[in-house]
Amino acid sequence: MEKKYLFSPGPTMLPPEVLLKMAEPIMHHREPEFEKIFSGIREGLKYLFQTKNEVLVFTSSGTGAMEGAVSNLLSRGDKALVVRGGKFGERWGEICKAYGIEFIPIDVEWGRAVEPERIKEKLKSDPSIRAVYTQASETSTGVRYPIREIAEIVKTYDDKIIVVDAITGIGVFDIPMDAWGLDVVISGSQKALMLPPGLSFAALSNKAWKFVERSNLPKYYFNFKKELNSAKKNQSSYTPAISLFVGLRETLNMIQKEGLEGVFRRHEKLASATRAAVKALGLELFAPETPSNALTAIKIPAGVDGLKLQDLFFEKFGITVAEGQDRAKGKIIRIAHLGYYERLDMVMVISALEMLLKEMGYAFELGTGVKAAEEILMVP
Ligand SMILES: Cc1ncc(COP(=O)(O)O)c(C=O)c1O
Repeated sequence: MEKKYLFSPGPTMLPPEVLLKMAEPIMHHREPEFEKIFSGIREGLKYLFQTKNEVLVFTSSGTGAMEGAVSNLLSRGDKALVVRGGKFGERWGEICKAYGIEFIPIDVEWGRAVEPERIKEKLKSDPSIRAVYTQASETSTGVRYPIREIAEIVKTYDDKIIVVDAITGIGVFDIPMDAWGLDVVISGSQKALMLPPGLSFAALSNKAWKFVERSNLPKYYFNFKKELNSAKKNQSSYTPAISLFVGLRETLNMIQKEGLEGVFRRHEKLASATRAAVKALGLELFAPETPSNALTAIKIPAGVDGLKLQDLFFEKFGITVAEGQDRAKGKIIRIAHLGYYERLDMVMVISALEMLLKEMGYAFELGTGVKAAEEILMVP
């Protein structure tokens, strides 16, 4: 018998009740029934993003909303500051380049968080910077960034905004958009939102909407102003991924029922247990100082073939974990715990890790990691 499990930081596993909902006969997106669903989604997303403002939904992967956050916020001749501490930080730079926006990179060692002081200095020394583009959680390295502190710095300028790719942050840990003064927050469906890939989200502050007003970069599908006007009528501008919207209504209900605090606590517990297991096994975290609760990046120990380990997870147990990307390829594996995951899911994946490491000749006592995890997971 073969069972499959996703422990990759997107796509993630899906709740069966949501899968069933999405399998229902499709409705038309201009029907009152869909408008009702849309209206519920708008409220649910405001709760999730902790904002009073509209959260726009696009039928695209997360990168679509990232692209929109460049093409809708900036204008020709504007300069951007880009935090580059991993694959997704690099993406901000690539999008800026595609739109002819000059960007200043703040390069951060992979596995570490950006120091807000570096952003402060850059903003001070270059008044032409209009936006700071960063991640909340850099999925390629498993690092959490100090978004609140960065926002405090950007907030002191009327003519600068902070744009946060929170694709593996929203619904994982606390990112209160309005309370922290974040200007743009981006997310995607295939992460903590417990849906298949295909929806991206963008929430904008009033300050960011002023940037939209003056933006003169080319845009068509990802047109934030047009989408805002449609959303206010419980419509999307173009044909949306209807079944995903139906699923989203369900997963937002689940999140509201658990409550944001409960959601964040659960992620904290799963992440702490995974990290404790890793350490108990004598392994090292790739992001030891500021790990994200979305996923745990583990350094491959000497003598173990990292790519083979990832293959064996799938071959032997049907488990997909993520390998390292680019310069981290073969050096780390990434185990996700964002979205539809519960305590025993982590026991399973840690147990699989132990069995595989044992088989690959890594020396430790079987059960050490599971025990360390259980000690955390059993505490209410
Ligand atoms: C932090 C972060 N940003 C951006 C993306 C890109 O999203 P997508 O692959 O949905 O376009 C991802 C996806 O893994 C991500 O984790």
